[in-house]
Amino acid sequence: MPSILTFLVLAGTAKAATPLYSTYEFNPLQHLSGVAPYFEPADPPRDPNPPEGCTVTRAAYLVRHAAINANDFDSEEYIDPFLEKLGNKSVDWSKSPALSFLSYWIPPTIVEEEQLTRTGKLEAAQLGLTVSYRYPGLRLPERVWASTAERTVKSAQSFIRGLEVEDDTINLVEIYEGEEDGANSLTTYESCPKYKSSSGSDQEATYLDKYTAPIIARFNANASSFNFTSDDIFAMQSICGYETVIRGSSPFCSTEIFSPDEWLSFEYANDIFYHYNTGYGNDNSGVIGFPWVNASLGLLTADQADQDIYVSFTHRELPPTVLVAMGLFNNSQFSGANNVNATMPLDQINYNRAWVSSYILPFLTNIAIERMNCSGPEFEDSDDSTYYRVMVNASPQTLPGCSDGPLESCSASGLQDYLSERAAMFGGFTERCNATYSNSTDVVSFYTNSNNGTSVG
Ligand SMILES: *[C@@H]1O[C@H](CO)[C@@H](O)[C@H](O)[C@H]1NC(C)=O
Ligand SMILES: *[C@@H]1O[C@H](CO)[C@@H](O)[C@H](O)[C@H]1NC(C)=O
Ligand SMILES: *[C@@H]1O[C@H](CO)[C@@H](O)[C@H](O)[C@H]1NC(C)=O
Ligand SMILES: *[C@@H]1O[C@H](CO)[C@@H](O)[C@H](O)[C@H]1NC(C)=O
Ligand SMILES: *[C@@H]1O[C@H](CO)[C@@H](O)[C@H](O)[C@H]1NC(C)=O
Ligand SMILES: *[C@@H]1O[C@H](CO)[C@@H](O)[C@H](O)[C@H]1NC(C)=O
Ligand SMILES: *[C@@H]1O[C@H](CO)[C@@H](O)[C@H](O)[C@H]1NC(C)=O
Ligand SMILES: *[C@@H]1O[C@H](CO)[C@@H](O)[C@H](O)[C@H]1NC(C)=O
Ligand SMILES: *[C@@H]1O[C@H](CO)[C@@H](O)[C@H](O)[C@H]1NC(C)=O
Ligand SMILES: *[C@@H]1O[C@H](CO)[C@@H](O)[C@H](O)[C@H]1NC(C)=O
Repeated sequence: MPSILTFLVLAGTAKAATPLYSTYEFNPLQHLSGVAPYFEPADPPRDPNPPEGCTVTRAAYLVRHAAINANDFDSEEYIDPFLEKLGNKSVDWSKSPALSFLSYWIPPTIVEEEQLTRTGKLEAAQLGLTVSYRYPGLRLPERVWASTAERTVKSAQSFIRGLEVEDDTINLVEIYEGEEDGANSLTTYESCPKYKSSSGSDQEATYLDKYTAPIIARFNANASSFNFTSDDIFAMQSICGYETVIRGSSPFCSTEIFSPDEWLSFEYANDIFYHYNTGYGNDNSGVIGFPWVNASLGLLTADQADQDIYVSFTHRELPPTVLVAMGLFNNSQFSGANNVNATMPLDQINYNRAWVSSYILPFLTNIAIERMNCSGPEFEDSDDSTYYRVMVNASPQTLPGCSDGPLESCSASGLQDYLSERAAMFGGFTERCNATYSNSTDVVSFYTNSNNGTSVG
């Protein structure tokens, strides 16, 4: 029997790990939307291991490229103007304790915008390693796919280096980011003429003006000569993410500069943008994401497949559209209505929303669809031994309308009905996108063509 002393000692140790009363903690890096360094938010906090009795026999992954130096839009619209203004103006920052670092802060040298950072390379390689841990019984792929941009290609190369055992055994196939490639690319928003990359900007601006007003007033109180604007605030909050993935940390991430609620407001402004840009608030989203879903389920459900693991690298726009095509992170689900724009008000935060862009599209975000083979007494009466499930950044997600399998996975027969429903909602890429160029297509063929790609060296 443990003595009271051991008990006290144990209680003491336990206290160090988990305090009796929870203390408030906040990490801005997990609320930076598209500029968030990779993390696994456990949303929901379900067990990533396959259900008992099930093993994964095939998997398809869609991955956003890893951390980059700054994307051109963010640089041109916000960051560069802010940095230029900072260099131009002489401001006595010592009067603003939280901002006093601006008198000596030197912006990171961004040698080339859009390029993968060292952090990005390492994290992409780590994802390769993680995939090998997750599927020890599966054959390593012969091919990995990436859209042609340098950051997607480099991410795929690092991923391959982390996954392969012998060098040059996994090839990389580059898929052109063409505007006339119909559904047959990893950048179907580019080939969908109805998609407008600026969608969501107006709605985002409405909320941006609202949440930055008190911040601007606070900052201008002691540094009026800088004349802070809402774009400056957005730039400073973005720099927190970019500087972190370049230098390992950033003074802009301090909660002394922006309070936790102000970081949550930055996140929500981004969520509004992505809602209208590539989410449920844009009628093209599901149409743009469906081809990848359909092609991947085609590969996973086939009796035979060339590979056990299919991995494809793309940009931030595609993963959210794929989630819409699958019906995941849908704010309206269980609401008894489908008034999706009302779920993202422009004047206050809907804290209970499912659509949180930091969870959906951080750097290296990855969506996996797994085919599982399940055996054991509980499956004996069932016609199915094959089930499917989706994981977003290692967190299992339940497909709407198909949760008849173990741990709410989707049975093979249920999956066919589910896919037909989604096809009815979002099939017909060429017509729905008004892709009037003569050679558009509704289907993805690059996974099964003969392009064997090249080794990564
Ligand atoms: C910085 O100063 C230059 C030269 O006076 C001016 O042309 C430019 O507009 C200024 N930029 C900003 C962002 O204030
Ligand atoms: C502005 O200056 C006052 C007086 O020095 C100081 O108390 C206050 O904290 C400063 N405010 C900010 C936002 O730096
Ligand atoms: C394709 O490339 C892989 C990896 O280098 C190699 O193992 C395979 O034999 C190649 N297949 C063909 C058809 O050339
Ligand atoms: C259509 O033609 C263009 C121009 O030749 C080409 O780039 C594109 O890949 C073609 N699209 C398809 C779906 O084959
Ligand atoms: C401050 O910035 C706003 C918005 O750019 C501009 O309209 C205003 O003229 C500026 N005020 C001063 C004093 O520079
Ligand atoms: C949501 O708003 C967008 C942009 O105004 C609009 O195109 C879309 O049809 C709206 N969605 C619904 C379901 O009302
Ligand atoms: C989102 O959920 C609502 C309510 O269940 C549903 O009517 C709607 O079709 C869903 N949207 C998508 C794209 O799945
Ligand atoms: C599924 O599991 C059963 C029982 O372990 C096994 O006989 C069968 O070969 C497996 N099928 C696949 C495709 O792995
Ligand atoms: C889904 O993909 C299959 C090929 O795997 C294709 O035959 C079918 O037409 C596609 N469905 C839609 C709705 O695009
Ligand atoms: C479809 O695109 C053509 C140009 O290619 C344009 O004339 C037409 O108005 C578009 N239709 C719709 C419904 O957007």
